[in-house]
Amino acid sequence: DKLHHFLHALPKCEHHVHIEGTISPELLFSLAAKNSISLPQDDPAFGSVSALEARYKVFTSLDDFLHYYFISMSCLITASDFEDLTYNYLSHAHGQNVHHAEIFFDPQPHMSRGVSYQTIIAGMDAARMRAAVDLPKLSIEFIPCLVRHLPVPAAHDMLAEVISSGHFADGTLAGFGMSSTEIAKHPSLYTSVYETAKAAGITNLTAHYGEEGPAEYVRDALSLLSVRRIDHGRRSAEDPDLVRKLAETSTMLTLCPISNVVLKGVERVQDLPIREFLDAGVLFSINSDDPAYFGGYILENYCAVQEAFGFTMNEWETIATRSIRGSWCSVERKEALL
Ligand code: HPA
Ligand code: ZN
Repeated sequence: DKLHHFLHALPKCEHHVHIEGTISPELLFSLAAKNSISLPQDDPAFGSVSALEARYKVFTSLDDFLHYYFISMSCLITASDFEDLTYNYLSHAHGQNVHHAEIFFDPQPHMSRGVSYQTIIAGMDAARMRAAVDLPKLSIEFIPCLVRHLPVPAAHDMLAEVISSGHFADGTLAGFGMSSTEIAKHPSLYTSVYETAKAAGITNLTAHYGEEGPAEYVRDALSLLSVRRIDHGRRSAEDPDLVRKLAETSTMLTLCPISNVVLKGVERVQDLPIREFLDAGVLFSINSDDPAYFGGYILENYCAVQEAFGFTMNEWETIATRSIRGSWCSVERKEALL
């Protein structure tokens, strides 16, 4: 219909997509075959593409999803695996009128199985160079995330290597974040890692919180880690004081509506506090998270929000403008996007 057309045409920014979350079951099997990776024999979900697709439809929680996500990413071996994966995402995003994309990746689970940080970034950067030619209206940045299921010292090792690569300084990397399991991973565990990032001059800091965990984790991430953004952050709405603080400090929430439904955080998109965030003046963007797992890229997420909330075109313009304002690109690029 008319609004679908409008949402498709609306210039969008994506701030919350994990490149490893764009591996479809079909691609997983073809990469496993190409790279001679054996998939778990004891889980019938790995019996076929359709069995795996069916399993993805009955996730019970974030951790249930992460189990499959970390197995799947272990099929990425060469720089060209990372290049193809990244380029495919970029061309899909471009086709949905994404004009600016900030892409998460998880260096640690790759490095711990012998794939170097240099291999990952060489592949992703090659995709960006190709996109600069083929998809010129799209600006692209990368954000490494520490993963919370691995010990904190491993996060320090990863950050040290990434800082020494010079990729924060040269602009290849736009910021630093954290992902993976949330419950029992209070922000206080990561103060030393974020202090190291700050000492290295990294100011664009973010963290996944308030996806499954309480508003208190979001509040403490703001004060203990100096993050400027919160990935998900949906449960912030449970604390009205925190909502005011998010608005006052222009802290952006990178919401992922379909992800929250598929991982059983909420029953339906309309149960998300998106109207509250909009009315309270909280900056937020609408994103896909792990599109190959959750059955929707960014446009499907915009459409799901429209179906749930019936926003006006004016409200959509506000959402689009706020997501540009919250982007981690240069002032010049922001002006071009606006
Ligand atoms: N939450 C936490 N970690 C993740 C996610 C998520 O939604 N997707 C990929 N890693
Ligand atoms: Zn995420």
